[in-house]
Amino acid sequence: MRDELEQLKKQALTELEQIKQPEQLKDFEINYLGRKGKLTSVLKQLKDVPKIDRPAMGSLANETKQGIIQSLELKKTQLVQGPKLAMSAIEATWPGRDFGLGHLHPITQFLNKVQDIFMSMGFEVVEGPEVETQKFNFDLLNIPKNHPARDAWDTFYVEGGLLMRTHTSPVQLRAMKKSKPPVRLIAPGRVFRNEATDAGHETNFYQCEGLVIDKCITVANLISTLESFLKQVFGQNVKIRVRPEYYPFVEPGLDVDMQCLICGGSGCSVCKQRGWLEMLGSGMVHPTVLKNMGVDPAKYSGFAFGLGIDRLMMLYHSINDIRFSYSGDSRFLEQF
Ligand code: PHE
Repeated sequence: MRDELEQLKKQALTELEQIKQPEQLKDFEINYLGRKGKLTSVLKQLKDVPKIDRPAMGSLANETKQGIIQSLELKKTQLVQGPKLAMSAIEATWPGRDFGLGHLHPITQFLNKVQDIFMSMGFEVVEGPEVETQKFNFDLLNIPKNHPARDAWDTFYVEGGLLMRTHTSPVQLRAMKKSKPPVRLIAPGRVFRNEATDAGHETNFYQCEGLVIDKCITVANLISTLESFLKQVFGQNVKIRVRPEYYPFVEPGLDVDMQCLICGGSGCSVCKQRGWLEMLGSGMVHPTVLKNMGVDPAKYSGFAFGLGIDRLMMLYHSINDIRFSYSGDSRFLEQF
């Protein structure tokens, strides 16, 4: 019986292979699997098989049957659905479409670089809220209500007298609520201004605040820290200069310029013929602000600075319009 089953299976599969028309499948099914079919007649012999061999033979018979059924189903699919698949023009060997992998935004990439540099100098990274109170954004930074300096930091007000922070400087105060000097920290983040947008101005952009407080901190520490930072970003040939500038929360206040890397100081369109580029605001923390932080100005001194991340990133990559950064245009983003 075993031989007969194997023989039958072989025969069935060969016959199936030769079938070309779906209509022939019905005859095949009746011929092999029907009540009077070939398989059925072999199965009838099962009762004559010695009892001891019967289970093994039974399962072999069943396997044969299932094998024929499966092959029949496969053939059905090929003959019936095959033409449909061909008509829908699916080309299974055609390579898939490349969706492309995204990457970090150039501002984020640059911010990561800035953080790495300051962390290597022992700075800690902290963050603060983007929606601020007037107290932290202005009052505690020595900019009381009606102070003309509020005009320079005009912003968007939200319900309850809250506002979108105009700079990262409030984080100096928030961080000092939790820390005691000595501190060395930076606070990167998004800031907002009520600006008419142009190539150099946006209503939202990024800053990175810095704060150092310890005994005997001087302007010399400020200048050397910032010079070292700029050299690590733009190369060892960087030359800087400092100019007095007014910020209500520092005294003295200083702007740090870097000699234009494009023209080497002789004047070009990038530096607007000045030979120098304004890089950041900084200064020695005002004694009133130190007091507002809970720090005794008689014992401690410190410096603070605010880096315009967008501006530095644009200079780093030679980009001439800040609006590219926020356009979401992949032709711009794919270059980084
Ligand atoms: N907060 C200032 C600004 O937004 C920058 C600054 C920070 C200046 C710290 C001095 C010290 O323009």
